Amino acid sequence: MESRQLRLAIIGLGRGFMLTLPGLAAHPGVRIVAAFDPRPDAAQQFSRAYAARAFSDLRTMLAASDIDAVYIASPHEFHAEQCLDALQAGKHVLVEKPMAINLREAGRMAEAALAAGRVLMVGPSHGLDAPVIRAAELIRSGELGRIRLVTALNFTDFLYRPRRPSELDDSSGGGVVFSQGAHQIDVVRRLVGQPIASIRSTTGVWDPARKAQGAYTAFLAFEGGAAATLTYSGYAHFDSDQLVGNINELGRPKAAGGYGEARRRLADAGATGEAALKQSRMYGLASAASPPAHDLLHHEHFGFLLASCERADLRLFPDRIEISSNTEQRDDVLKPPAAPRYDAIDAFIRAALGGEQPVQDAGWGVETVACCEAIVQSAALEREVTIDEIFQASELSRSNFNGAR
Ligand SMILES: NC(=O)c1ccc[n+]([C@@H]2O[C@H](COP(=O)([O-])OP(=O)(O)OC[C@H]3O[C@@H](n4cnc5c(N)ncnc54)[C@H](O)[C@@H]3O)[C@@H](O)[C@H]2O)c1
Repeated sequence: MESRQLRLAIIGLGRGFMLTLPGLAAHPGVRIVAAFDPRPDAAQQFSRAYAARAFSDLRTMLAASDIDAVYIASPHEFHAEQCLDALQAGKHVLVEKPMAINLREAGRMAEAALAAGRVLMVGPSHGLDAPVIRAAELIRSGELGRIRLVTALNFTDFLYRPRRPSELDDSSGGGVVFSQGAHQIDVVRRLVGQPIASIRSTTGVWDPARKAQGAYTAFLAFEGGAAATLTYSGYAHFDSDQLVGNINELGRPKAAGGYGEARRRLADAGATGEAALKQSRMYGLASAASPPAHDLLHHEHFGFLLASCERADLRLFPDRIEISSNTEQRDDVLKPPAAPRYDAIDAFIRAALGGEQPVQDAGWGVETVACCEAIVQSAALEREVTIDEIFQASELSRSNFNGAR
């Protein structure tokens, strides 16, 4: 890889950016040089903190010749248009999950990246978590026999964390299928390593006060014969972090006494206070702090994960893989992360500066968006849907994207 730094501009200084910031700050191969966000307070604070330029107009920022790449961390509904503009301006793009709010948009983004000859990578997503990558290596080595089944469960309070209105609007990619399903699908696809043939699912809108799809369960049939069950509830009272050593999604030990905190804070804030609560988690306010990058012993995770192979079961934890085979149970212990989301940033830099193929390239992202659509469609039609028919309905040829792997 070249030794020069990737000059990166940020689009959207919200919660997603805050979570990725420690990884960006820790990586020697990247220099944050600019940002665009419609909130002037955030942009100004950012400009001071990074001696970087804060732009009030996105197109002006994209026209700057001293920017190599952008990280799009704006709300989902802006990803496609901003990505197309950035690619047209010759920038490499790291786009937050979900890549887009529908398959047509995702397809246009991937085609534009190909035409522009620029990297388009989707992430950070939990498909890039070190335990997932390590478990996938173990599965791919063949020593445990073929992968047969993956069980993925995540029970969270997602719906009751402070939300923008579009995060609770299914037509803008709100709800859990696109926001959270994209993570879970990436994880399961990485573990299985086969194209998905079909999906049967059910989704749920259980709370009339928050009218988004807040839960789903799905059965995925893979072309190589493996299968996976995916369950996600954003309405949960049970917290599945208990199943992974009480470590939260970000790899931090859970504070004692936090039961019911999200619902309690939301009820205290009332309908009018939710926006302020949401803002307090974004960049630009003194109260909003990124988790510190030091003392990190655990990797991020996305709930309970069990990969069943012919000769062993692999259970993923934030710091290890527990391997239960015919004769023994042992742990494959992982090194702690260099910094949160470092590996995802590293993969993007290697792709943009070194020409390496990113693990979650544009084609990968297109396929994951197709799976999100399949979950929604299967639930609506109350039948199994094939991924091929999802592509056909969007008038796209699946094979053009080379993402089914
Ligand atoms: N990978 C992860 O684990 C993770 C975690 C959180 C968020 N995200 C993703 O990040 C994206 C943003 O979500 P969030 O939770 O940070 O939202 P947020 O509401 O916390 O922040 C959104 C930010 O974007 C800004 N913004 C609004 N309109 C914009 C526009 N047109 N152009 C640029 N910026 C704009 C807002 O001012 C705000 O600073 C989403 O796609 C979400 O899925 C990913």
